[in-house]
Amino acid sequence: MTVRSLPDFPWDSLAPYKERASSVSGGIVDLSVGTPVDPTPAVVQEALRGAADAPGYPLTYGTAPLREAVAGWFARRRGVPDLDPDGVMPTIGSKELVAWLPTLLGLGQGDVVGFPGIAYPTYDVGARLAGATPQVVDGLAALGPLTTATTPKLLWLNSPSNPTGQVLGIEHLAKVVAWARAHGVVVASDECYAELDWREGATEPTTPSILDPRVTGGSTEGLLAVYSLSKQSNLAGYRAAFVAGDVSLVRRLLEVRKHAGMIVPWPVQQALTVALGDDAHVAEQKARYAARRAQLRTAVEAFGLRVDHSDAGLYLWATRGEDAWATVDALSRRGILAAPGTFYGKAGREHVRIALTATDERIAAAAERLRA
Ligand SMILES: Cc1ncc(COP(=O)(O)O)c(C=O)c1O
Repeated sequence: MTVRSLPDFPWDSLAPYKERASSVSGGIVDLSVGTPVDPTPAVVQEALRGAADAPGYPLTYGTAPLREAVAGWFARRRGVPDLDPDGVMPTIGSKELVAWLPTLLGLGQGDVVGFPGIAYPTYDVGARLAGATPQVVDGLAALGPLTTATTPKLLWLNSPSNPTGQVLGIEHLAKVVAWARAHGVVVASDECYAELDWREGATEPTTPSILDPRVTGGSTEGLLAVYSLSKQSNLAGYRAAFVAGDVSLVRRLLEVRKHAGMIVPWPVQQALTVALGDDAHVAEQKARYAARRAQLRTAVEAFGLRVDHSDAGLYLWATRGEDAWATVDALSRRGILAAPGTFYGKAGREHVRIALTATDERIAAAAERLRA
């Protein structure tokens, strides 16, 4: 297998701005990464501790109660009433699945993997690791006339989006699914911010899933939903996520993962099961982020930035119509570190991504500095 060259890891280029922000009186407010800072819920910690005795190998497929808990969560929270637990498998966080899915599906040289133009960089990385061809797909019309060689084998969606916070509606998702089925394309939908929906008057429990029957017509054929508990449950350190959907696709992934030893540890499987059954801690965490978001958004706008999309998820996608690095620079002078939109694709060159993942105290400090 030839591994295509990986993209540069760009975070080092933020170092001078980090240094400047750190030198501001009161210290840095680092809003450049989306890593949770609030405690892992007690109920989840207890489940992990209670499963500390684990002498044997766990199932790669996940325990039956875990797979049933995922199906129950889809029914309760995502408007997906009849998900088959056979089409569920835990993953070691979702980043590894995003990075390895093209390889696990057997894709390689000459195969196209599509993903949004402004996106989490790991979709591109996954295509490269497989030796496949990464390709930005922003709208199906943009693909033009398709040949067997140019039709993607795998198409990534990410809703709500990191970094933009854009949410794809039922109609949009249904069109993509119909198109994908007509062309034999597997659709993988990364939905890890689904619970963090800020749209006023949104009537659904969460943002729409690719597995919603109004999207799928009642069949999961060719579809995978990827979900992580890192954000909703403050357990990025556990590496707890899952993939769900088409049973035959999940079995294909399972086959390779069994051979490769890609197994979620037993205590994490137990913690994941408990976390998926408890909606209270998710609501509590969402309320924390809602308060931080409201405070930060007003302050960011007072500073002169326009917030685009940002309808859901953990980020404000903001611009003042200048080069992203100029905005990063201006924010660093107030002691705030943000990520330039260029980290997420060329189309992000005039935006910055500002994360909501800091303590109440740090968010309040940022808001005060932005208004000063
Ligand atoms: C869009 C998206 N997908 C996947 C992940 C990975 O999450 P994890 O590996 O913690 O499950 C992230 C993390 O920031 C993300 O933003």
